[in-house]
Amino acid sequence: MNILVVGGGGREHAIIMKLAESKRVSNLYCTPGNGGISKFAECFDVKATDINGVVELAKKVSADMVVVAPDDPLVMGMVDALNEAGFKAFGPDKAAAIIEGSKVFSKNLMKKYNIPTAGYEVFDNSKSAIEYIKNSNKYPTVVKADGLALGKGVIIAQNFEEAESAVNSIMEDKIFGKSGLNVVVEEFLTGPEVSVLCFTDGKTIKPMISSMDHKRAMDNDEGLNTGGMGTVSPNPYYTKEIADACMKNIFRPTVDAMVKENRKFKGCLYFGLMLTPEGLKVIEYNCRFGDPETQVVLPLLKTDLVDIFEAVINENLDQIDIQWDNCACACVVMASGGYPVKYQSGYQIEGLDSRGQADGCKIYHAGTKFEDGRFVTAGGRVLGVTSTAPTLQEALDKSYNAVSDIHFKNAHYRKDIGKRALSVLK
Ligand code: AMP
Ligand code: GLY
Repeated sequence: MNILVVGGGGREHAIIMKLAESKRVSNLYCTPGNGGISKFAECFDVKATDINGVVELAKKVSADMVVVAPDDPLVMGMVDALNEAGFKAFGPDKAAAIIEGSKVFSKNLMKKYNIPTAGYEVFDNSKSAIEYIKNSNKYPTVVKADGLALGKGVIIAQNFEEAESAVNSIMEDKIFGKSGLNVVVEEFLTGPEVSVLCFTDGKTIKPMISSMDHKRAMDNDEGLNTGGMGTVSPNPYYTKEIADACMKNIFRPTVDAMVKENRKFKGCLYFGLMLTPEGLKVIEYNCRFGDPETQVVLPLLKTDLVDIFEAVINENLDQIDIQWDNCACACVVMASGGYPVKYQSGYQIEGLDSRGQADGCKIYHAGTKFEDGRFVTAGGRVLGVTSTAPTLQEALDKSYNAVSDIHFKNAHYRKDIGKRALSVLK
């Protein structure tokens, strides 16, 4: 099969390296890809949000399957356009991708179908949002832009001034454009977070191995929120008992609710969960694989990923037995100094082999270019250094060992990825 993957980060690199293991794949293509991906798939310069461009590219490479990985093309309807042009595509259509594309939609869905989530109110103007925040007078409080906001649309306000300024920048200054026409003001929850990615064809749900993201830029969960500075899998908080409760109270009801709403979800549905003192709650849904969760989940997958994607597309996921390695996996993200705010790119990366890899681990490139025979930095998150081992401690040791041999100017990474998970395991 010829398979085209849309996207160009660490998540897409992990998908491509897993697809490359399949005997069913003859050619792998990626757009736009990146330096590291270009060693495993032929890359093109069509943007991930260019719907017509991707349809034309699918024709050009005679794609037998297109995998749309990022949120924005899914929410914009790229899968619909590919299907209309006769291509098989993995990912939800536009109607279903709204589960991530609109927080107002997802919160109302959860309320309607009794799926546990943080209490909330929706506002379409800043004045009433601010008045509500003032009257509730409970901090921290959480302000969320309705639509996609490059992962920056959630503001945890510690006091009235911060909440007011969040509402004003979203609704008046429109820092996220149309994504901020509505805001959700939400109750602040506490507790460990668990990410669970599920394959679903709209009927059958097959959860993948759980994982734990580390969203803050600095050690001890300090500093700004980022796209994710590292992940471990499995997540030790996610016991069998919790998994069963999730299936019953969250996963099954969500997939069924989407069918009832005429928005059958087919693809990878990401559940961002929090184990609060009052029980398990949904923090967010994503309509796609998580990044960097995918980097620690897919290495543990033993079943052919092409078979799974095909079963989701053909709606016979019940026919396939998905097997996982009984190991642990750890991904340490090496980022550009200054990320997630301001950073410089174009620095040479030392310590990688000619394929952009290193011994004993997998190096998923997030933001790199291959220029004049060398890899250079080209983004905030640069590399996801990922290892698999029988125990989490061993996986972390392998990843951190590899990290110490990779160098680029102003490289920044967290030294405590997996620390919390290890403390639970002890
Ligand atoms: P999101 O962009 O929706 O992934 O949210 C980013 C992060 O904000 C989440 O992973 C949580 O750590 C945090 N967050 C979102 N909603 C809440 C909430 N209601 N209470 C506490 N933390 C939250
Ligand atoms: N790692 C969080 C996300 O993919 O949204």
